[in-house]
Amino acid sequence: MLIRLIYASRTAGVLTPLDVRDIVQRSQRNNRRLGITGALLLSNGIFLQCLEGDHLAVNALYHRILLDARHTDPAILSFTEIDSRMYAEWSMGLVTSTEANQQTFLKYSPQAEFDPYQMRGTALTALFAEMVAHARVLPG
Ligand SMILES: Cc1cc2nc3c(=O)[nH]c(=O)nc-3n(C[C@H](O)[C@H](O)[C@H](O)COP(=O)(O)O)c2cc1C
Repeated sequence: MLIRLIYASRTAGVLTPLDVRDIVQRSQRNNRRLGITGALLLSNGIFLQCLEGDHLAVNALYHRILLDARHTDPAILSFTEIDSRMYAEWSMGLVTSTEANQQTFLKYSPQAEFDPYQMRGTALTALFAEMVAHARVLPG
């Protein structure tokens, strides 16, 4: 069964661009093997990740990601059965905090500060859909 899981977490301490690259590179390698696709958004010290794939594979990966000391305060914000993937071409795309992306984040945010913990699952899904539609995802 194909599902999409969206969760948020906070960066633990200061993460350098090298740390982020390490996370994305490992994700791309592993996810390709596991048939998992998705995107990782980083803004305002908050990770927001969309994981798509078989429900058991995504569950297992999520529990492994939880053990990573580079983030904290994880919260599942959406878990949905889906018919097709949004990120079929991305084993793990990266969405960075460019000015154009910030505007889109705010479009879906109740607060002026981007805070996905306060957002509903449908808004988060629409946000990821807009990132794909406007090619705002760095491929991977
Ligand atoms: C926010 C965040 C998201 C991550 N997403 C993934 C992911 O999608 N896939 C993955 O394999 N690892 C992901 N990781 C990294 C894992 O926690 C772990 O470091 C990695 O899977 C280990 O890979 P390795 O066994 O190839 O060294 C993520 C880590 C963080 C902090």
